[in-house]
Amino acid sequence: MNTFVCGVCGHIYFGDDSPAQCPICHVPRENFSANPDIIKTPADPNNFSEGEKKHIPDITVSKQGDTASVTIDIGEIPHVMTPEHFIAFIDVYLDNKVVFRGTLKPDLAKASLVIPVKLAGAKEIKVVENCNVHGYWMERGEL
Ligand SMILES: [Fe+2]
Repeated sequence: MNTFVCGVCGHIYFGDDSPAQCPICHVPRENFSANPDIIKTPADPNNFSEGEKKHIPDITVSKQGDTASVTIDIGEIPHVMTPEHFIAFIDVYLDNKVVFRGTLKPDLAKASLVIPVKLAGAKEIKVVENCNVHGYWMERGEL
């Protein structure tokens, strides 16, 4: 599986090939480029640095039957939200299919979301966030 980036809205698509159209902004395939290294990963997954703690999404899932309330904080140490440096968007995926795009403005007190999701048998949740200065970061969890 590869990662493809939408040149218009910045969405990351997970798949073997780019999508026919962007699931977020609906532009056609030619706007996507393959970039397997675009998402930053922590040097040590068991011991995040301070910079990693400010960017890696912190996910809490509270399941109720076939739905769940998902709380997402960026990050374990709250990331700043200023016009110069902020979390621009948060995309949420179930089994690699995007189910939510949260567009954030620097006016927010912190980069945080609570969303209700339909689990529909999904096995994995994935959250990708984009910092306007530090790029893409991801966290995943079992459902
Ligand atoms: Fe940042």
